Amino acid sequence: MSDTFYATTPIYYVNAEPHIGHTYTTVILDTLARYHRLAGDDTFFLTGTDEHGDKIAEIAAQRGASPQETADEYSAAFRSTWEALGFSFDRFIRTTDPGHQRVVQEILQKVYDAGEIYFQEYEGLYCVGCERFLTDRDIEGGLCRDHERAPEKRRESNYFLRITSHFSWLAGYIEEHPDFIRPERYRNEALAMLREESGLGDLCISRPKERLEWGIELPFDPDYVCYVWFDALINYLTGVGYPDGPDFERYWGAVEHFVAKDILKPHAIFWPIMLKTMGLPVYQHLNVHGYWSVDGRKISKSLGNMVSPIAMKERYGFDAFRYFLLREMVFGLDATFSETALIRRTNADLANNLGNLVSRTLNMTALFAGGEVPKAGEPGDLEREIQAAASGAAARVDASIRSYEFHRALEAIFEFLDCVNRYLETRAPWKAAKDPANADQVATTLYTSCEALRVIALLLAAFLPETAAEILARLGIPDALQTARLPDDAGRWGVLEPGTATSKGAALFPRVEVPEKAD
Ligand code: MSP
Repeated sequence: MSDTFYATTPIYYVNAEPHIGHTYTTVILDTLARYHRLAGDDTFFLTGTDEHGDKIAEIAAQRGASPQETADEYSAAFRSTWEALGFSFDRFIRTTDPGHQRVVQEILQKVYDAGEIYFQEYEGLYCVGCERFLTDRDIEGGLCRDHERAPEKRRESNYFLRITSHFSWLAGYIEEHPDFIRPERYRNEALAMLREESGLGDLCISRPKERLEWGIELPFDPDYVCYVWFDALINYLTGVGYPDGPDFERYWGAVEHFVAKDILKPHAIFWPIMLKTMGLPVYQHLNVHGYWSVDGRKISKSLGNMVSPIAMKERYGFDAFRYFLLREMVFGLDATFSETALIRRTNADLANNLGNLVSRTLNMTALFAGGEVPKAGEPGDLEREIQAAASGAAARVDASIRSYEFHRALEAIFEFLDCVNRYLETRAPWKAAKDPANADQVATTLYTSCEALRVIALLLAAFLPETAAEILARLGIPDALQTARLPDDAGRWGVLEPGTATSKGAALFPRVEVPEKAD
């Protein structure tokens, strides 16, 4: 039976070029979406850009351009980068899309009419980075903890969404659904935010136009625009056609949000309450990952260590970068990136292990079997072990990917690869082929390693799509992914037809020299 999988990335601010952080979240979603499609699930993958608010108005002013021009430019940069990297998103939403803006206004009116929004004068310390008034807990040494900049004192009359009255309901919901927010550390953080002592008050959802014009106008007061987070979170609904598009019915019940820990609060607290006040079911899970640092330092424009995914693609191929991101970060924990570590991993795992297995298998098939997948004879113990290892790997990959343990899924694939390499060392077809009496055994060995490559390519397809496609093309089954079902087709043995024409090719991952100045 096929399941439904609807997954979202955060929509990215249009004030910077895409970097390693944005790329990571989008890579994990792309991997999951590809896997779910291969598993036969009805899949929708949403990403896009968040374009209103102070931050964008500020950067537009610095550049001497209008907010709309700035948003258009950066949004196009995200979209074209995601396309160049081959991400398989089903929709790229922009919060300046007229359809999105209209629905945000309809929702605001509905929530206002339901009495969930009130008007009040307010004085407090405002951080432009966070786009909100700060509480005592957000401030350390007079500076905003997240942005390390001094907040400004502001007095304003604004509209507020009643959220505090929903805290006890939300805390109860989180208690009763232990994996609603996961991993657990973030669930605990969310519960702590809901405790009275956290000082979290009602949510200010407006900005006076005299201070900020760049936003969606409140339908019930033309002197105000909507707070950017209220507008942005709604993309998860408008992205699948809320309120009356057929995709909304089809996908909303299956929605999975993916974010990093920096935006836990809006997703864990504001969003479920917004959904409740709109009368909609809350999301399935909020999946929260950690933060990447680069060379041990926080990523920042001023340090110039943003790591461009396009530069990584040009230097190493995008699959190598994807591999590093998925292999090195344990979902939920922080990780650090360095180009030297990327080169070492690429050389060890991709060039040596995977690349060698592919080239030696296909070279020997060319040499000893005329370039065609040979017919296997009776399997011996060693062959039966490889078959069992293949189905074991398929099951482990399936379980790991479904629990977002991407590093474990890759570990399982590479352990299987090691088994096949060891098998080849033992059978040593390059020696055995010298004696014509071994012809049967050589054919069995080559069939086994070609079939193992098919399994590896299917299992890698969601993680390293280009590499998997290349391996399948060389195995003479370029269309295998169009009909494959995972995990079953990877766990099943004997799919590759004898007689299929294979081809050799250039090294999949050329070895890269480690720079001299590296540690
Ligand atoms: N526009 C808001 C999100 C609105 S969602 C309704 C926003 N945008 S952002 O451009 O700042 O993107 C933040 C997200 O980018 C993080 O939650 C994460 O997905 C990704 N990352 C940005 N930097 C990151 C790291 N250094 N490490 C890991 N992911 C990070 O917040």
